[in-house]
Amino acid sequence: MKMYVILPLWALFTVTQQKVPSDNCLCELISSDKPFPYDKLKTAQDSALSCTNTITSQKTFALDSLLLGLNRRLPQLEHDVAMLEKEDDRTLYGALSLHIIENELAEIQQMIYKLNSTTTESKHLSENMAQQLENIKKEMDELEKFDTMQVVKRQQANQRLKRDLDQCRNNGVHPPNRPTQPTGRTCPHGRFLNITGPRVQTAGEYPGSYKYGAWGRDPKPEPGKESWHWRVMLTSSNRYAHYVRLYSSLSSLIVGISVPGNVQIHPSNPTTNTIQGPNVVLYAGALYYNCYNKDAVCRFNLTSKSVTSLDLPKGTRYNSKGDFCHLEECYPYTDLDLATDESGVWVIYTTTQDFGNLLLSKVEESEPPKLGKTWRTSVYKRSVTNTFMACGVLYATRYVNKNMEEIFYSFDTMTGKENFNVGIFINKVSSDILSLNYSPVDQMLHAYCDAQMVSYKVLFELMGNNFPY
Ligand SMILES: *[C@@H]1O[C@H](CO)[C@@H](O)[C@H](O)[C@H]1NC(C)=O
Ligand SMILES: *[C@@H]1O[C@H](CO)[C@@H](O)[C@H](O)[C@H]1NC(C)=O
Ligand SMILES: *[C@@H]1O[C@H](CO)[C@@H](O)[C@H](O)[C@H]1NC(C)=O
Repeated sequence: MKMYVILPLWALFTVTQQKVPSDNCLCELISSDKPFPYDKLKTAQDSALSCTNTITSQKTFALDSLLLGLNRRLPQLEHDVAMLEKEDDRTLYGALSLHIIENELAEIQQMIYKLNSTTTESKHLSENMAQQLENIKKEMDELEKFDTMQVVKRQQANQRLKRDLDQCRNNGVHPPNRPTQPTGRTCPHGRFLNITGPRVQTAGEYPGSYKYGAWGRDPKPEPGKESWHWRVMLTSSNRYAHYVRLYSSLSSLIVGISVPGNVQIHPSNPTTNTIQGPNVVLYAGALYYNCYNKDAVCRFNLTSKSVTSLDLPKGTRYNSKGDFCHLEECYPYTDLDLATDESGVWVIYTTTQDFGNLLLSKVEESEPPKLGKTWRTSVYKRSVTNTFMACGVLYATRYVNKNMEEIFYSFDTMTGKENFNVGIFINKVSSDILSLNYSPVDQMLHAYCDAQMVSYKVLFELMGNNFPY
């Protein structure tokens, strides 16, 4: 017996689940609907992703730095021409100056040429992207028409539900409308998924000099200093530093114009309160670092220029006795790693009584700073190359090869849970990352990598990176 049934697809489930009776009834299913074209949805998703990846902020940075460069060069040229006019006595000096100005003009011309091609490229890029986005939109409209099974709509609804659920979870018992004071964790972005980049990569003001150092931006800046960036270079023996160098913007840091310049802790280097080791952070207008020759965290207030400090527990390893390492080498004077996240300042270190395992303590911003709650981990500090904090979770990296570092470990301070299988990779621009810190203002990771300043974007679950919902 042959029986034709025309069924909507949802009924298939019930049909196949029924036990076939002994006299072998055969059903043939003919669906009036065409199957949903999943491959098309996948293609649209992939195109959208590639759009996001093509428009990087690096392109705007390039434009930005070129403009800044021109801005600096033009007044210089004007000044030189004025000098020449004033001093040209038709001698060798005049000829020389003329030659210099010619060179300068040529360079400026080159910059203008580059600026022109960059803008043309950007224009082309955005036209291209607009067209691609238009195509994706059409494709999605088509798919929606096809979507008689409501696949896409359900997926959307699920995604929204999931987001609400996560928000609920993060916010405790409160409804999805975000409360002003979430309980415990101050992290609105959900789970740490991945990182992309480098977004910014620059040698800055001193290309190739100062292998050890740190850079970043203050997550809690004073009013008017929101776009300021800072850099600390270990200028003495690759170990010590005695000033913070400030830049009024990221572009200024890239082209190397330091205004307002240095804020000095002390004219001598090293001496009491000198910065020791590269893993320093700037927070609320103060630099937190390992004080010279001490198992203590120093805080240098850039406004009052005063230093206060906080002693770490007895047994804390210092003076390069508890460094970050990989198989080939240890990074000297990395005993203390200062870190910032949404909740403030942290210090990562180790002690003799903890057998060299990582310890994490909150640094309370009181006057003087105090040691807050401490967490013990089971990861050995010398098997780690660096650490950072994001949303109350400690992350540790290890060296894979000269191009790749892996975020392999995490420790959640809310649950006390450790994870040795994080498996997120960092594309390096050079072999050694000497400092690594998370910026809660823009969810960037700032790395100082063999004299280069590099940043990566952290992708969280709820940041809307997952096209198309
Ligand atoms: C800028 O680039 C366009 C297209 O490449 C070219 O036609 C134009 O002459 C350039 N302008 C200058 C000032 O170089
Ligand atoms: C993380 O991003 C990289 C490159 O952007 C990608 O190759 C990798 O598959 C991603 N990993 C995960 C777990 O999503
Ligand atoms: C730094 O000093 C200034 C002036 O004394 C003070 O107002 C500010 O609160 C201090 N900042 C920190 C982080 O202690």
